[in-house]
Amino acid sequence: MRFDVLTLFPEFFDGPLRCSVLGRALSSGILTVALWNLREFTSDKHGKVDDTPYGGGPGMVLSAEPFLAAVRALRPAVGTPVVLFTPQGEPLTQRRVTELATMSRAVLLCGHYEGVDERVRQTVVTEELSVGDYVLSGGEPAALALIDAVARLQPGALGNEASSEEESFSLGLLEYPQYTRPAEIAGLHVPDVLRRGHHAEVHRWRRREALRRTYLRRPELLARVELTKEDRLLLTEVVRELSERT
Ligand code: ADE
Repeated sequence: MRFDVLTLFPEFFDGPLRCSVLGRALSSGILTVALWNLREFTSDKHGKVDDTPYGGGPGMVLSAEPFLAAVRALRPAVGTPVVLFTPQGEPLTQRRVTELATMSRAVLLCGHYEGVDERVRQTVVTEELSVGDYVLSGGEPAALALIDAVARLQPGALGNEASSEEESFSLGLLEYPQYTRPAEIAGLHVPDVLRRGHHAEVHRWRRREALRRTYLRRPELLARVELTKEDRLLLTEVVRELSERT
């Protein structure tokens, strides 16, 4: 898959694109990330990419021209997502990440300052995405979050294929707690069930703990996942257990 990233700060991506899963995906050719400096797409002779807002007010607005010129130069095929990162966008979800991971290309637009001229949305953008209800100083960290989440779903990107399989086990739920050696630290013990090595019991315990964690921390997610009959029983146990404790 190929990402074309339009940004005022290509250097922002230097370190992260060299590390870990992203670093390996790029050097093995599973993923390509092309960084484009918006300043190179302005006709302004001083490379100016922003201006004061019509109607007044504080801050600067990124001009439409560099975005339009850059997207035009990249010639995205019909159907290629052209994403603008903004807190006003649709919340990014694993579902959308999974869909984007099947595509061959996506163009990512990073805004900055007070915002981007509205006509960028009206012309080249096919979707707007937000990575959370808080305001970043630019779209770059959001673009990086998307690239990372998509990269790890590319076939061969994770050293251990089982890790993404495990994830689908808890798809839509929060992850169950994990432990590694030693069996006891600071008086805290690894749950016995995990040390006994009875596969079905381990599986059941993990499912129950994933349900418990989701119920306690993100109950709204439970409404969106498909729960099996067994899940419903486990959840009932969890809820009963919790209500007995209080
Ligand atoms: N740009 C600024 N804040 C953002 C956010 N929360 N998500 C995506 N892009 C952004």
